[in-house]
Amino acid sequence: MTGSYPNTRLRRSRAHSWSRALHRETVLTPADLIWPLFVTSGEGVEEPVASLPGVSRWSVDGIVARAREAVDLGIPCIALFPNTPPDKRSTDGAEAFSPDNLMCRAIRAVRDACGSEIGILTDVALDPYTSHGQDGLLDDAGYVVNDDTVAVLVDQALNQAEAGADIIAPSDMMDGRVRAIRMALEMGGHPNVQIMSYAAKYASAFYGPFRDAVGSGGLLKGDKKSYQMDPANAEEALREVEFDLAEGADSVMVKPGLSYLDVIWRVKERFGVPVFAYQVSGEYALIEAGVAAGVGDREALVMEKLTAFKRAGCSGILTYHAPLAARLLNG
Ligand code: PBG
Repeated sequence: MTGSYPNTRLRRSRAHSWSRALHRETVLTPADLIWPLFVTSGEGVEEPVASLPGVSRWSVDGIVARAREAVDLGIPCIALFPNTPPDKRSTDGAEAFSPDNLMCRAIRAVRDACGSEIGILTDVALDPYTSHGQDGLLDDAGYVVNDDTVAVLVDQALNQAEAGADIIAPSDMMDGRVRAIRMALEMGGHPNVQIMSYAAKYASAFYGPFRDAVGSGGLLKGDKKSYQMDPANAEEALREVEFDLAEGADSVMVKPGLSYLDVIWRVKERFGVPVFAYQVSGEYALIEAGVAAGVGDREALVMEKLTAFKRAGCSGILTYHAPLAARLLNG
């Protein structure tokens, strides 16, 4: 008789909500979220992004309102991406280091309104500023050159730091850019400006809606495979992370998110440093498309996915679902 009952019943701990709460290994809080926001020109402007249902570009005043909303929701950091007007895009992306570009105006306005109540993360790469949509400078053959691009990215990063950015996030995948940016920040009087490197950034098919949002999608010819990583590689991601840490990165990012949980886990296990995931635009759009198609409940789908990032070892997640998730978590 006794032998016909299991010794251990894992279901026992799952029987009640209080017990599930007690046994929960992973906790998601609003403090785990970074909210990416798209900046556009004008005043009082909200432009919905068709391929990102529920996400809009906002003019600087709207960005300030979103930043205040983030503070109220307990979201500690926003990430800014500009939709540069077409006439300000050029082959060399020089608008990236204009002190009065959209990004800098948004940084200053948020800083004025929110002080140090919110962190401001800024993306370093030339794609929102170039007329060709690539992240760096091109040679005659159309190849994105490394070292000359790094020199320009340094100017871009310094420009953002001067405007008041807290976290510089190079997403360009050039070699050696973290060291160059760190040196420039130190020498430029910004020792406390952090670097979160997009260390393992893959040449992914999931960035399409983002490129619509910043207006680079229609301009881009070819792909970014000569600098972004092959989705087949994980050992190489560890090398990217190792170099970026040695070059002075404070934290590292894996991007996209959910299809790369193994990479997040391996980075966390190997280096024990703060790891962030970017749940990218295509991932967001797939959830929204799924909800529209009746696949499941939006809130449940969103929370399950965000919790998975924490379980895999993330310190935090960049996600367009940040305000929804924070609202749910705040009850
Ligand atoms: C810029 C950049 C991209 C994303 C973040 N920074 C696009 C790209 O590399 O083409 C994608 C983010 C998203 O899809 O949500 N280099």
